[in-house]
Amino acid sequence: MITALRGPLAYCTDDPFLAGARAFRYESDGLLVCRDGILEAVGAHRALHQRLPRDCAVADFSDCLIVPGFVDTHVHYVQTGIIGAHGRQLLDWLERYTFPAELAFADPDEARRTAAVFCDELLRHGTTAALVFCSVHPGSVDAIFEQASKRNMLLIAGKVLMDRNAPERLRDTAQSGYDLSKALLRKWHKSGRCRYAITPRFAATSTPEQLELAGALWSEYPDAHLHTHIAENRNEIAWVRELFPERADYLDVYSHYGLTGRRAVLAHGIHLDESALCRCHESGTALSHCPSSNLFLGSGLFRMRQARDPRRPVEVGLGTDIGAGTSFSLLSTMGEAYKVSQMADAPIGAVEAFYLATLGGARALDLADRIGTFAPGKDADIAVLDPRATPLLAFRTGRAADIEEILAVLMTLGDDRCVRATYVAGALVHERDRPAGR
Ligand code: GUN
Ligand code: ZN
Repeated sequence: MITALRGPLAYCTDDPFLAGARAFRYESDGLLVCRDGILEAVGAHRALHQRLPRDCAVADFSDCLIVPGFVDTHVHYVQTGIIGAHGRQLLDWLERYTFPAELAFADPDEARRTAAVFCDELLRHGTTAALVFCSVHPGSVDAIFEQASKRNMLLIAGKVLMDRNAPERLRDTAQSGYDLSKALLRKWHKSGRCRYAITPRFAATSTPEQLELAGALWSEYPDAHLHTHIAENRNEIAWVRELFPERADYLDVYSHYGLTGRRAVLAHGIHLDESALCRCHESGTALSHCPSSNLFLGSGLFRMRQARDPRRPVEVGLGTDIGAGTSFSLLSTMGEAYKVSQMADAPIGAVEAFYLATLGGARALDLADRIGTFAPGKDADIAVLDPRATPLLAFRTGRAADIEEILAVLMTLGDDRCVRATYVAGALVHERDRPAGR
């Protein structure tokens, strides 16, 4: 099956925090050719179009911007129903809203319905890959992988491990958490585009025994992923210090149990110090920056430029962190990351924000060999953005001087209204303007 798209292409080939402008490519009249889900040709339309089979239809997106599908490096599908639950900070928010919501995922029907809504929302927002928290219930993992498989999306997900400091019906045990995770991992990891993440919720809800077994499981399946939270909120950090007094700091809790390294993604990391950032760099441990969540829960201001310091850059992606986060849109999340970086007096540029939402996310997930950029051989995961999606966007982008300014306007004003179409592995899976019923 061949799919071809024509229009302006924008993508990163490298890390602009380290390589500067060289890391970004813009082709004002480009062509993408996809065969059987894989990009076969990427470049200027004039150079490539003769190579297309004569009967091949070309989708014309000349008035749009064609970008790699967005990568959400931290999101809880089981919290889709509590977006906007306000008035509390992290630990109270978990007790008051989150745990009660996650209890409902004992019911496979609730899990299936929410997983379907969640996957459709990702695609409507141009997000084609995500690292996803489920609930403690194995059925919640089956539900999300079933829905992702139906749509051929690249999803990494896992059963939450939680054997203390949570309601009884949301707790497993160190052994049952290990056994159930192992069974799910064997069932889903690398089934189609699905991948498994071993998922201790955070240090405060796992006993040392559970973290130990999580580390043992990861060492048995080292090509799986590891997904948890770290250093999000000051009260959380103080609590973890009390629970693990023998460990040097929060990151050391995870390192001690073998839970850091490549393919480990720690959400937030707002309050990590220089020493911890150095250890993330050295071990290849990635952070997921979730600005809308950090603002909503009052957690604090992530220092992006410090994390990405070229002398010891930590891999960082962007996360929506739904339901503490407030938008599924990576465009809007880029805009929030920009504002948070301003508050730290070290603003990131639009191309840097765009990198974090695409190739940077792919690198954080150790999936840059497959997604995050456009090159022959990569998976054909594509978002088509409409810079004139609203009257204001049309007015504002109409006076933009260059592609960087268009990206800056999109991250400031953009959201799902800008996503004209989404392709997953070369297949059209979302079309904004398709008439209802077709
Ligand atoms: N830390 C532990 N669990 C959670 C969660 O569900 N959301 C967020 N934002 N932080 C957490
Ligand atoms: Zn989270």
